[in-house]
Amino acid sequence: MRIDVLTIFPGYFAGPLDTSLVATARARGAVDVRLHDLRDWTTDRHRSVDDAPYGGGAGMVMRGDVLVAAAESVWNDLPPSATVGTAAAPADVDGAPPRYVAGGPRPRTVVFTPRGRPLTQALVRELADEDRLVLVCGRYEGIDERVHELVATDEVSLGDYVLMGGEVAAAAMVEAVVRLLPGVLGNAASAAEESFEGGLLEHPLYTRPPELRGRTVPPVLTSGDHAAVAAWRRARAEERTRAVRPDLLDGTGGAGPEEV
Ligand code: ADE
Repeated sequence: MRIDVLTIFPGYFAGPLDTSLVATARARGAVDVRLHDLRDWTTDRHRSVDDAPYGGGAGMVMRGDVLVAAAESVWNDLPPSATVGTAAAPADVDGAPPRYVAGGPRPRTVVFTPRGRPLTQALVRELADEDRLVLVCGRYEGIDERVHELVATDEVSLGDYVLMGGEVAAAAMVEAVVRLLPGVLGNAASAAEESFEGGLLEHPLYTRPPELRGRTVPPVLTSGDHAAVAAWRRARAEERTRAVRPDLLDGTGGAGPEEV
């Protein structure tokens, strides 16, 4: 899979991409992550990516022209200096016209915003099946609405709170998607992933030592009775889900059944 990230802070991703299983997956070629600095698509002396909102109001808005140009370049694998133009009039591209233009068919392109659809395991599974993902990180008060219309195939929120930008959400999505790519986790862990079927939160886990500050391990886990262990785990998972995330059980919201 190839993932392109558009951001004004490419340096933000140094940690998440160079650590742990994501770094290993990249080294093995399971995923090719490319970072792009949105300022490379600016045309003014100050390299501005934002401007004041039409109609007034607090804060600044990310410019649509910069974001559309960046997305079109990245979709078509062109350098920032190439102008892709419009579907009706492709421009300045040597040879064949660009395959992808804003508003037309385009690779799966996620714009991060608190108004988006929540990032759930179901969405992560869906995205992990794509060959390409383009992730667009907003900053400031928000993004020009035309970017949502012309660039985004998906608008995704990390949760019901406001971050300073989409970078944390993009890093979370990369990690969640990469761990599902073939060969990244290995068989044992993939099988464990399957055990999430049924939409429950995970049951409690224990490892050595058998006693910690007076707290012992539930005897059923050392009984050797696999059926009893499975029943105990299922009961604890249901208990925990009912207490913490009842919405997962009644289907009224949140991630919904089968999505955790
Ligand atoms: N940008 C700001 N807040 C966000 C959120 N909750 N999710 C995704 N992107 C964001």
